[in-house]
Amino acid sequence: MSYQKIIIIDFGGQYNQLIARRVRECGVYCEVTPYRKITVGEIREEAPAGIIFTGGPNSVYLESSPHIDPEIFELGIPVLGICYGAQLMAYTLGGKVATAPTSEYGKTETEFDTEAVMFGGHKKQAVTWMSHTDYIAETPEGFKITAHTPVCPVAAMENRERKLYATQFHPEVNHTENGTEMIKRFLVEACGCTCDWTMGSFAETAIAQLREKVGGGKVLLALSGGVDSSVLAALLAKAIGSQLTAIFVDHGFMRKDEGDEVEAAFRDWDINFVRVNAKNRFLGRLKGISDPETKRKRIGEEFINVFEDEAKKLGRVDFLAQGTIYPDIIESGAGDAAVIKSHHNVGGLPDHVDFKEIIEPLRLLFKDEVRALGAALGLPEKLVWRPPFPGPGLAIRIIGEITEEKLEILRDADAIFREELENSGIARGINQYFAVLTNMRSVGVMGDGRTYDYTLALRAVTTSDFMTADFAKIPYDILERCAGRIVGEVAGINRVVYDVTTKPPATIEWE
Ligand code: XMP
Repeated sequence: MSYQKIIIIDFGGQYNQLIARRVRECGVYCEVTPYRKITVGEIREEAPAGIIFTGGPNSVYLESSPHIDPEIFELGIPVLGICYGAQLMAYTLGGKVATAPTSEYGKTETEFDTEAVMFGGHKKQAVTWMSHTDYIAETPEGFKITAHTPVCPVAAMENRERKLYATQFHPEVNHTENGTEMIKRFLVEACGCTCDWTMGSFAETAIAQLREKVGGGKVLLALSGGVDSSVLAALLAKAIGSQLTAIFVDHGFMRKDEGDEVEAAFRDWDINFVRVNAKNRFLGRLKGISDPETKRKRIGEEFINVFEDEAKKLGRVDFLAQGTIYPDIIESGAGDAAVIKSHHNVGGLPDHVDFKEIIEPLRLLFKDEVRALGAALGLPEKLVWRPPFPGPGLAIRIIGEITEEKLEILRDADAIFREELENSGIARGINQYFAVLTNMRSVGVMGDGRTYDYTLALRAVTTSDFMTADFAKIPYDILERCAGRIVGEVAGINRVVYDVTTKPPATIEWE
């Protein structure tokens, strides 16, 4: 790759991916590497424009804690140490790190030396985000203190000659005022970065690399209609055109019109696009099944079966393309095992497809970068901004046994809910919203008659990581309109409820 690169050495801190995102937001390419996985020799060879040490949960003076080869400071490559990384720099270069008399956690008033490289043009007093129990008690020789707080004498330090910089606080966290600007100053002033890494330039390089790697070979892709596999299909289409076969297994559990939308997005491209309408196969496999995990497992297995049946018709392919993205593969400096995404959430790799190698062209991108790449490649907005949708689709939003009739009811009701939220303009602020068909019937009255129909639940959540979530505070008048339309327009539903549980203790999905 020809663009400048920053290597982020990961010591297991909780904000490490955030550092990478900030660097990339500044228009500089970076990669995160666990500290155990890279040597000074390898860094010398890669010749990055700069190095960043992340935070971490340890104390540098414990023998079992992560350390770093002091040679790294002799490479002449600028280094920024953050939190544990700052302490590690101080400790390794002969400064003193100790347990702080007062630990700092959260927003902290900090005073800056505005002549310092990272704080030029900055306010003298500003809030930073702190999270530490140890602190740098004495700086190593040649370092100047560039920020402090009432209880932290070295909130930041620099050695301009050796291009070494450190912050005890976390500039990558939003609560640090102008934190991204500080990182940018490190990148530009210390590392000489030109900040011109864009999705357009990424696409160009990725396309050239794919062409070289694939040569005249055949590539197979399982297209789910989700953001990752769709963007991957677009990238491969641009790179190798008709050498790509994209198999879209339509399991029949997509939302209203979604299968047709996926087909429409790819139909006119110069690739082999295969849509398999496998609804009946899937419904058959799920007959009589109401246990959520059994549903998931059977859908995953059936997906592979359908995919394999189609793939076999192609004979040998050279490459299987996977939509793995960066968060799926980043291994924390604290962790021991790499986490690899299972094949599009659908139950592992196919056993009976004959291929030579797996390719994962999105493996270095974050989700929002994948979306930006999709936009740069000309994919429709709707596809690029699609909120997360589970692999098993509506099958896990129908409580109890799945039937064609229930699918029809849920699809129509869900479409109304989404349409109302989107038209009212509040959808963009909600991270996931959908309807769930409960397995419960209750009594209602419509016209002059008694009804005994299903209860539909609406679910809408705000979340940043999908690990915890809050229910969205949708205005009552919008909920009222949704309920009115759903009961009026969808036969089979006579009652609508709104789920007001947070996660935890509930989950986002009902199954
Ligand atoms: P929960 O329900 O666990 O959901 O709070 C968290 C996020 O994961 C999605 N989800 C799934 N995605 N296959 C998927 O691809 C699944 O089986 C699955 N189950 C939950 C859910 O939609 C939410 O975004």
